[in-house]
Amino acid sequence: MNQTYTNPLREGMRLKRMPESNTLVIMGATGDLTRRKLIPSLFSLYRQGFLPNQFRIIAFARRDKDDKEFQNEMAEALKKFSGYKNDSKEQIQRFVQLISYHRGDFTEDAAFERLKNRLKEYQKETNGISNRLFYLATPPSAFEPIIDLLGEHELAHQKDGWTRIIIEKPFGEDLESANELNDMITRVFDENQIYRIDHYLGKETVQNILVFRFANGIFEPIWNRRYVQQVQITVAEELGLEGRANFFESTGIMRDIVQNHMMQLLSLVAMEPPSSFDPDAVRDEKVKVLQAIQPIHQADIENQVIRAQYAAGSLWGEEMRGYLQEEGVDPHSTTETFFAMKLGLNNWRWAGVPFYIRAGKRLPKKVTEIAIYFKDAPLQIFGPEAEDSLATSNVLALNIQPDEGISLGFDSKVPGYSSLIRPVNMEFRYGTSFGDEPPDAYERLLLDSMLGDATLFTRADENEMAWRLIQPILDYNASYRDVKLPQYSIGTWGPRESDRLLYQDGFQWRRL
Ligand code: BG6
Repeated sequence: MNQTYTNPLREGMRLKRMPESNTLVIMGATGDLTRRKLIPSLFSLYRQGFLPNQFRIIAFARRDKDDKEFQNEMAEALKKFSGYKNDSKEQIQRFVQLISYHRGDFTEDAAFERLKNRLKEYQKETNGISNRLFYLATPPSAFEPIIDLLGEHELAHQKDGWTRIIIEKPFGEDLESANELNDMITRVFDENQIYRIDHYLGKETVQNILVFRFANGIFEPIWNRRYVQQVQITVAEELGLEGRANFFESTGIMRDIVQNHMMQLLSLVAMEPPSSFDPDAVRDEKVKVLQAIQPIHQADIENQVIRAQYAAGSLWGEEMRGYLQEEGVDPHSTTETFFAMKLGLNNWRWAGVPFYIRAGKRLPKKVTEIAIYFKDAPLQIFGPEAEDSLATSNVLALNIQPDEGISLGFDSKVPGYSSLIRPVNMEFRYGTSFGDEPPDAYERLLLDSMLGDATLFTRADENEMAWRLIQPILDYNASYRDVKLPQYSIGTWGPRESDRLLYQDGFQWRRL
């Protein structure tokens, strides 16, 4: 299955068109996201010549700093988090000169007035071009004041260029707040100006789900209930709270990963072919998948949904504390660090096919994978010794990370005189076929937002449907807030209940 080309990645990294000159305003620029992701991704684009000639970054935050201090901090961050280690000191210095620091409070009128003046100055320097991109990298509590003040200071619309706004997740904390947030944003910005980020959509392997399905003729005819037995989606992490106890306590893995990243993976794997690769054509089909998910009734939650917390255990040869003992976590907390659920889709393609999803922190390894299990051969002619292995071998695994690739399992005769049969794999690895590392998800998303391409961003109705789906579970949790959650030891694949979810249907989780 592997095929090596001359230098396809370089070709893949060519741009059909360059983004227009613009100013990026990062709100909440002193946060982790800016240091770890945004600045390294922008630097990578800069290094490859993909940023426009006239490009500036305004780092808007509350802390008292000047340009120099912030630029130095970003230079340090680049040394730590950028993929380019040795050869880029001068480039780093040139790049950080593009950043200016804008001190101000997100509720302070004067700070927005100053921002407006600064943008006007830049406009003069760039011969009247005033395209601007606001990036909300703040906690959600700051979204509303920022958006209001952008509106009040007439920064949301202009006649001399485009204005766009990128909003980081979480987009709401439940259905009601997501709708309120959406109403609030759309009072100030038009939908086509709004770019809701789900960084999973920027991952190469996630984009490749669509290419794999719709650029090839051989998989789509069997991508349905007639041939598929079940689908499993896993987002496993070894990481725990990483200093974000406060955030995680009020979020839990359901809001942090399931409502967004997992629902995106599910939509891409289950959607109908769009008529084109136009942003709305793609997103229309994704919304239809979310609309087709069978609503989960309160009575079924106990059977269909598993929530749990990690308990003390060892990982990487290190003894680690359980969730309830973590600093900043309420010892009686019922926030889940593991979530598993069985879903069904009400449409002709998928009726009767179970989709099992699971996500967890402090699991044995980091792995994101979608596994499509195909039905067994209708008749077993190779005798009883072959039968066991036949049950599970036809699995197509889309490995999203970290071993990016696709593998197809099938049964093969073990060489020799018996009729022993064993599963084997056909493998495609990105590394082997394409060489280099793929770009970080944020690079693609930042670039697309400057190009005005919203295909890899979530639309309001998608986000709403994903909340609608998990809202009954949130309500259920709220009414059982005092009930302790099942525990799983750190470094295991979740609680026993999660295995039972599949056993009851005669399946088991794939060993990863
Ligand atoms: C983020 C979550 O959205 O995704 C984190 O807030 C999680 O809790 C992260 O660790 C996982 O992203 P990735 O790209 O490492 O799979």
